[in-house]
Amino acid sequence: MKQKDPRSEHLLRVNRSPALRGMVSVPGDKSISHRALLFGALADGPVEISGLGMGGDNASTMAALRALGVPIQQAGTDARVEGVGLAGLQEASAALDCGNSGTTMRLFCGLLAGRPFVSTLTGDSSLSRRPMARVATPLQRMGAVIDGRQDSARPGDLFPPLTVHGGTLQGIRYELPVASAQIKSALLLAGLQARGRTVINEPGPSRDHSERMLRFFGAPVSTEPEQRRVVVDPTGWNGHLRAGAVSVPGDLSSAAFLLVAALVVPESDITVENVGLNPTRTGVLDALVAMGADLEAKVTGQVMGEPVGTVRARWTGRRLRGITVAGELALRSIDEIPVLAVAAAMAKGTTEFRDLRELRVKESDRIACIARELQRAGVTVHEAPDGLSVVGISGQPSQGGRVQPDGDHRIAMAGAVLGLVAVDATEVPSQDIATSFPSFAHLLQVLGAPVS
Ligand code: S3P
Repeated sequence: MKQKDPRSEHLLRVNRSPALRGMVSVPGDKSISHRALLFGALADGPVEISGLGMGGDNASTMAALRALGVPIQQAGTDARVEGVGLAGLQEASAALDCGNSGTTMRLFCGLLAGRPFVSTLTGDSSLSRRPMARVATPLQRMGAVIDGRQDSARPGDLFPPLTVHGGTLQGIRYELPVASAQIKSALLLAGLQARGRTVINEPGPSRDHSERMLRFFGAPVSTEPEQRRVVVDPTGWNGHLRAGAVSVPGDLSSAAFLLVAALVVPESDITVENVGLNPTRTGVLDALVAMGADLEAKVTGQVMGEPVGTVRARWTGRRLRGITVAGELALRSIDEIPVLAVAAAMAKGTTEFRDLRELRVKESDRIACIARELQRAGVTVHEAPDGLSVVGISGQPSQGGRVQPDGDHRIAMAGAVLGLVAVDATEVPSQDIATSFPSFAHLLQVLGAPVS
């Protein structure tokens, strides 16, 4: 008999919403928070971080760093990381638990590949199913020994738990088989510790937070964006990352749920302040504007080389229209496809999502989960190997019911946003939402949504 999942006890109840209105800020960017903690740990002195994302994934990175001997004091969204430098990391006494966080596992593989000790990296059931050969293969070529679990159903790949036997690394030239910021960042971390240059070429523009922050910290990293190339060359570098203060902008990936909610709930008008507007992340805004959304994004400043600003989203009374999300646009909105699919469900015409094979190996098989959840709500969806077609529901509000997030925070939140326009009540198992956006329900309430 199937065991009852204790997570299903945490339920968010979502009802059809009146207008959402107000100005809010969202928690710190998850990707940037991981990097601020990790690069901070490698600095040669204290690094003060403000605005840290406080979700489960960032907590996993913090715990793993502490286990490697990095002192971190945390008070709310502020943290003080006592940077120990690369040489100051110590072998952990137990496995490093990366929880649900692919970013933690992959970045730590790169970091630990060059340390002279053995580390074991574990994760929850979702992370344990995610492919790791993509990061292990280039690190093995650099000289690390990485073992993992094999799965006869997916031969040739490697799955957690991983054991990283760190050692002396040699720089390589590497063509990433998929555009991935996690693999690229792992190779940058390994490259910093290697002999000679490491040159990484990407097939598409993945998020570039590591490049920006490493350069801000004084690391020998250079980029050739036209060539989609990143180079790290520690030759002649003194090995020091500059310590100092770091401020993390709000997470556009979290803001996207609120913005789409405002675009589909009648009479809404919301503004999200202090949010990251890095162009490798703003595909969601471009896609929504192409759908006819009234969105206004303004860059108001820069932090650590990252553009930051405000985004206002207004319901117009005109229906959004179906578009094609593919190629670079798909890559620049990779984490926002679940919520873009909700916008597509409420739009006129069909939205084609393509070139998104990677979504099958995120926290869940997101293509299958989005298709299932939209179909549950009464939306016609056609699944393809690398994406899906969503047929807008011609004006009728969607049906409610119980969302089945499959342990995936973004599927849960997208289901809740759909619930704001559903005729009947929607129930969302909400435990997983804390992975990236613990204040999601609270901020929806602040904006006037009937969620409890
Ligand atoms: C992330 C990179 C992306 C993204 C993930 C966070 C990061 O994955 O989907 O949520 O912080 O580097 P890829 O490595 O597949 O680009």
